[in-house]
Amino acid sequence: MANIKKIAVLTSGGDSPGMNAAIRSVVRTCAYLRIVCVGIYRGYEGMIEGDFEPMNARSVNNIINKGGTILKSARSKEFRTKKGREKAFEQLGFSLIDAFVVIGGDGSFTGALKFNKEFDVPFIGIPATIDNDIYGTRYTLGFDTALNTAIEAIDKIRDTASSHRRLFFVEVMGRDVGHIALHSGLGAGAEEILIPEEEFGLERLLKSLKRSKARGKTSSIVVVAEGDKTKGKNVYELKEYVEKNLPIYDVRVCVLGHMQRGGAPSCFDRVLASRMGVKAVESLVEGKTNFMTGIIDNQITLTPISEAIKGKTKIDKELIRVSDIMTT
Ligand code: F6P
Repeated sequence: MANIKKIAVLTSGGDSPGMNAAIRSVVRTCAYLRIVCVGIYRGYEGMIEGDFEPMNARSVNNIINKGGTILKSARSKEFRTKKGREKAFEQLGFSLIDAFVVIGGDGSFTGALKFNKEFDVPFIGIPATIDNDIYGTRYTLGFDTALNTAIEAIDKIRDTASSHRRLFFVEVMGRDVGHIALHSGLGAGAEEILIPEEEFGLERLLKSLKRSKARGKTSSIVVVAEGDKTKGKNVYELKEYVEKNLPIYDVRVCVLGHMQRGGAPSCFDRVLASRMGVKAVESLVEGKTNFMTGIIDNQITLTPISEAIKGKTKIDKELIRVSDIMTT
């Protein structure tokens, strides 16, 4: 057992629904284990500035159901400098903080690992990003909520597409991976799904849209991952390409954007956040560091951060096969 008396918690990088539930779990687990807990505002930026606030079990009342993060988040350029990390280390020292939990993505974990190697401050990472692209966990916090937000929006788009017999290209987030597009496209019954992991090709897209039309479909939805590179065309250029080469459709574009990052977290994300928060604090107390919590086969696991930041989760080929069959 390590002699951990004070643990800090911070959220870093792009926010995601479920971060507040994770903060709540870390704070409540510290209270349960009689460990002092401190919240750090604005990620590593706040760590460098000493923007800290003591937190107790009551500080996290009524936040489990709130999107965003009460501790705010940021991407800190200064923390990428040795000077910045030295300032952060001094701030932790002034506040007698023994360890920290960082809730964020692989960029945030990379920073924590570098900081640990230089100053030996123990930390555990909790994977929180809507992209679901972190190696070492089946689900990252926010992915399930973002999927439900996306299919709710796509269902609404389908209503108006059907009324006006239109083709919609709907762009979803995911940075350079297609997990949100593949799952939400399948869940929303999209006619086609374009993801960076699969070179779908423009000819195949036209052929598929022609086939849909020939089968009597008067409206269609194509879900496009923002990182998709179908012949280097963005979603607006895809619209122009189809209008030019398949003038049987009235085409529109809808970019869902940052609404996928907000909203009340789903039950799944709340429960996952609660489980990961407990695992993170207990691991620090047991003397562990440089690990990321994860969920694999419904078990909460620990993956070495050095592996988590290197890997990317592979696209689910079985889902691609199911999606192909569904467009029959
Ligand atoms: O990583 C989460 C994410 O929402 C990506 O899906 C998206 O590409 C990116 O963040 C947007 O970053 P920002 O919030 O800085 O615009």
